[in-house]
Amino acid sequence: MAHTPFTELLQKDLKTLETNLRGLLDPHLSKKEHLSLLNVACGRGDETGVLAKLLSEKANSAHLQGLDIRAAEIDQANSRWKKELESKASADFITHRGDRLLDLAEIGNPDIAFLRHQNFWNDKPVWTKIFDQTLERLDEDGLLVITSYFDKEHELATEALENLGAIQVGSIINPNSRALSDAPGKSVDKHLAVFRKKN
Ligand SMILES: C[S@@+](CC[C@H](N)C(=O)[O-])C[C@H]1O[C@@H](n2cnc3c(N)ncnc32)[C@H](O)[C@@H]1O
Repeated sequence: MAHTPFTELLQKDLKTLETNLRGLLDPHLSKKEHLSLLNVACGRGDETGVLAKLLSEKANSAHLQGLDIRAAEIDQANSRWKKELESKASADFITHRGDRLLDLAEIGNPDIAFLRHQNFWNDKPVWTKIFDQTLERLDEDGLLVITSYFDKEHELATEALENLGAIQVGSIINPNSRALSDAPGKSVDKHLAVFRKKN
């Protein structure tokens, strides 16, 4: 049997992510003149086009800011997405620690914070700081969205966010999540959840 090329699998994952994120955000995201999104621990930011599309449906202009500790992935994200986005949206990416987010005044207070495939269970103290500082940076009426590869990891991250004062306002278990063979129970964007800050 012929294998599906990897790029095709990625495109399918992104299409599924788009559908699920639209369903998750639509009830909570009001139209605005401008929307800003902070993509924390974004890696190469493969989903940037999807995020830009969703923001452009809700605003006349949008800016996406990504950050990750891995400089090589951030370089790839900048060279791809500074060229590829449509005129309504712009993006830039910086190499920086998510647990040192409060050092970055230029981040401002984004309308949406996004953490795809958050990695809480891998390093709970660091990711607790990442969640805490992301919540602090987020606009008072902002939305924080996570996705997770694993059931348990999602449960732990949700608990950690709620302990930090976040309120879960929506969630989706992805019925079309693509299973990954590198770890049992791991699959792409298996869980998605959206949180608000407690006012
Ligand atoms: C599971 S990967 C997810 C990457 C990307 N969001 C995705 O879905 O493909 C976790 C990411 O967290 C990043 N990371 C780990 N610790 C970090 C930290 N302290 N600050 C910022 N990024 C961090 C890693 O470099 C990696 O890109």
